[in-house]
Amino acid sequence: TDPSVIRNFCIIAHIDHGKSTLADRMLQATGVVQPREMKAQYLDRMDIERERGITIKSQAVRMPWERDGVNYALNMIDTPGHVDFTYEVSRSLAACEGAILLVDAAQGIEAQTLANLYLAMENELEIIPVLNKIDLPAADPERYAAEIANLIGCEPDDVLRVSGKTGQGVEALLDRVVERLPAPVGDADAPARAMIFDSVYDTYRGVVTYVRVVDGKLSPREKIKMMSTGATHELLEIGVSSPEPVPTNGLAVGEVGYLITGVKDVRQSKVGDTVTNNARPASENIGGYEDPKPMVFSGLYPIDGSDYPVLRDALDKLKLNDAALVYEPETSVALGFGFRVGFLGLLHLEIVRERLEREFDLDLISTAPNVVYDVMREDREVVTVTNPSEFPEGKILEVKEPMASATVIVPSEYIGSVMELCQAKRGHLKGMDYLSEERVEIRYWIPLAEIVFDFFDQLKSRTKGYASLDWKADGDQVADLVKVDILLQGEQVDAFSAITHKDNAYSYGTMMTGKLKELIPRQQYEVPIQAAIGSRIIARENIRAIRKDVLSKCYGGDISRKRKLLEKQKEGKKRMKMVGRVEVPQEAFIAALSSD
Ligand code: GTP
Repeated sequence: TDPSVIRNFCIIAHIDHGKSTLADRMLQATGVVQPREMKAQYLDRMDIERERGITIKSQAVRMPWERDGVNYALNMIDTPGHVDFTYEVSRSLAACEGAILLVDAAQGIEAQTLANLYLAMENELEIIPVLNKIDLPAADPERYAAEIANLIGCEPDDVLRVSGKTGQGVEALLDRVVERLPAPVGDADAPARAMIFDSVYDTYRGVVTYVRVVDGKLSPREKIKMMSTGATHELLEIGVSSPEPVPTNGLAVGEVGYLITGVKDVRQSKVGDTVTNNARPASENIGGYEDPKPMVFSGLYPIDGSDYPVLRDALDKLKLNDAALVYEPETSVALGFGFRVGFLGLLHLEIVRERLEREFDLDLISTAPNVVYDVMREDREVVTVTNPSEFPEGKILEVKEPMASATVIVPSEYIGSVMELCQAKRGHLKGMDYLSEERVEIRYWIPLAEIVFDFFDQLKSRTKGYASLDWKADGDQVADLVKVDILLQGEQVDAFSAITHKDNAYSYGTMMTGKLKELIPRQQYEVPIQAAIGSRIIARENIRAIRKDVLSKCYGGDISRKRKLLEKQKEGKKRMKMVGRVEVPQEAFIAALSSD
């Protein structure tokens, strides 16, 4: 296809602002899917993918559109809408010349959308502002058009109004895409360079890689090279999705499509990497490639210890589809055999955990998530700590914690409560801007450890659900951080160690010792539960002694009943964990780790 008739765009929107509905409408309006097929085929397939949790990955669809007698090819590139996947969003944006900024006309712009809008503007994408859901009685397009106009510097009248539900305005939007977005430019004669913006594992076909060609051409059967690793593969198939995959005889400058090489693992086809021709390789990659970096670590353990091999196989399978997932085996006194797993953020953790539980039928317990610290020992050696148990003993010179830039958008009456929360979470105020008279954007530099846990829930409850949040990793700071250990009769219980700010150590210690006191049954002797920083005890509870005799309940009567009870007690023992001399039912540990 001649690049002058190609338009590559993505849709930037907040969850629930109607991106999927609008995308489906565009597929109908361009005749790519028939209305009747729509529900029966395309949406159904989407449902299965949704079930499989794949919709967090981006994809691309090619749509024909005629305007003034010219036949255009529109490539719509899907972007994941979640805060943990910023890098994937940035690669999707980099594959486009323009973006549709889609905002719910009854809600206004939200923090993640704003962050992605800024990302698009930094990438010099042409922005087409659109208000969606104008059919809603609660829609207030005048108000939000003014807000958007103010943000991107256009006239309120330039903001298109559509309804994905009724289809109103969708054709005008497609026309606008053709008029406003620049055609892709590239050097057709140069060695091939294509950027990978998505890579999806498919059970039947292996990895399907989505690319945007920048220079040259990729053809079927040729040998391609991944520029970050130098690995070569044969192009078994190359084509475009419309929305079903259609093989073509190649992809040229500006085109967007998919590749199949037979690789089995998304790590061999990494988002952000440059694909070139092996026989005539490009000398420079497209740029912007980064390896995914886990930000949050947590221990994952099967509740039933015999499920450990199932968990291992399940992680191996998920990894094929998730280049950001890292893990290694770990053992815990309290929880047995499990894995230390690294995630991009808490949402990523939840997705992985849910997939493990649903798709592999596992019951799992996860330890409190922690971020990654750099700890400098007295000998000036710096230790990277991804697990509190790796925190060095002895004198520490300095601890560095990762920081984040966070943006909150909130109605102005909540400014006070948001600032109070951010302050309590050790945030530094960086700035504040009014988007309109009623809504304000507040920016903080804040420890990642403080926002990845219950920050969002607290933010929501303090603002009656009105606040939206976006964050991205941004440097580090030296902070007064300590490791708090929990000891049961003097023995450390590994799964409960935590790295906290010194000011929070005491409250963590009393909370954990209190919880365990409630959950651990009395033993035959008194058992102290302590919280300690190094050798200093900061909190203590006691479990009082009890002499338990199960048979005493039976009043000497029925012998078979006694035997049954003894059997039962033996069975119960299997789920007991020994911490030093103390016997603890595993349920107690699990309950203590569950958040509530
Ligand atoms: P995610 O897939 O979760 O990111 O959401 P999304 O942004 O793709 O939103 P989706 O298209 O699933 O729409 C969210 C909800 O809004 C659904 O209940 C839609 O039926 C509804 N919706 C979408 N567009 C419109 C519209 O134009 N008008 C009205 N009234 N409702 C709409």
